[in-house]
Amino acid sequence: MAYEGLKVEKEGNIAILKINRPKVLNALNRATLLELQGALRELAEDPQLRVLIITGEGEKAFIAGADISEMANMDAKEALEFSRLGHETLRMIEEFPWPVIAAVNGYALGGGLELALACDIILASENARLGLPEVTLGISPGFGGTQRLPRLIGKARAKELIFTGEMVDAKRAYELGIVNRVCEPGKLLEEAKALARRIAQNGPIAVKASKELVNEGLEGGLRQGEAMEIEAWANLFSTQDQKEGMKAFLEKRKPEFRGQ
Ligand code: COA
Repeated sequence: MAYEGLKVEKEGNIAILKINRPKVLNALNRATLLELQGALRELAEDPQLRVLIITGEGEKAFIAGADISEMANMDAKEALEFSRLGHETLRMIEEFPWPVIAAVNGYALGGGLELALACDIILASENARLGLPEVTLGISPGFGGTQRLPRLIGKARAKELIFTGEMVDAKRAYELGIVNRVCEPGKLLEEAKALARRIAQNGPIAVKASKELVNEGLEGGLRQGEAMEIEAWANLFSTQDQKEGMKAFLEKRKPEFRGQ
């Protein structure tokens, strides 16, 4: 499908989704968020897909936030709808059936950082700048930043970033635990693809179950998470992938997982 604010490319069982509004540093407007929802729905149904990478078009930005020119004249009712749209879209990323890697290739600000925080793993290039500058515009983060950032890096560190609106570089973001890895700018996408390929060679049902268990487990208590893990683990023993994975190990060969 053709999109205006997005580009979707496939390489085998990996998809690369680029936010494609480089003239405005890939700022997210309503139309792009709606397109993103459509693309995520379509990709979720692709039987071949195993990992999704999200990045930004151009050299300068991953996503420099929600589109300020669109937000500037919103009233409270329109803002409510826009924030709901943002949350709904980011939840689709968080609940996407396969792992989602954010390849942060420049500015990841406001809604851009919030989108990355909804991904499973964040890789950043050395030139990345990350932050939640909403308070500098007289608003608070509205696409999940006040919720996902403290869960990831702790309350006090998140509050410092949110209250100051300060941007941090990739190295500081790594120290804070926001990004998994910092890459040379020219190698970011290759590293993201290599990571994606590594994940994609594992048992697909097991990877999918692991994502759900981590996500759901973090929302509930430890005992509830343990119970979910036991059940999911046992269920994997009725898959062909488990038989194949263990048989291949014992036969000293590479497994051929079919996702069944
Ligand atoms: N919404 C709409 N347009 C945006 C944008 C956003 N979030 N971020 C950047 N743009 C536009 C700029 O208005 C500019 O458009 P123009 O060429 O028509 O003037 C273009 O993208 C390039 O940005 P510019 O500001 O000229 O680049 P810069 O290198 O000087 O600065 C940033 C880069 C990211 C520091 C700066 O663009 C910025 O602060 N953006 C807003 C970040 C923000 O507050 N995001 C949170 C929104 S809730």
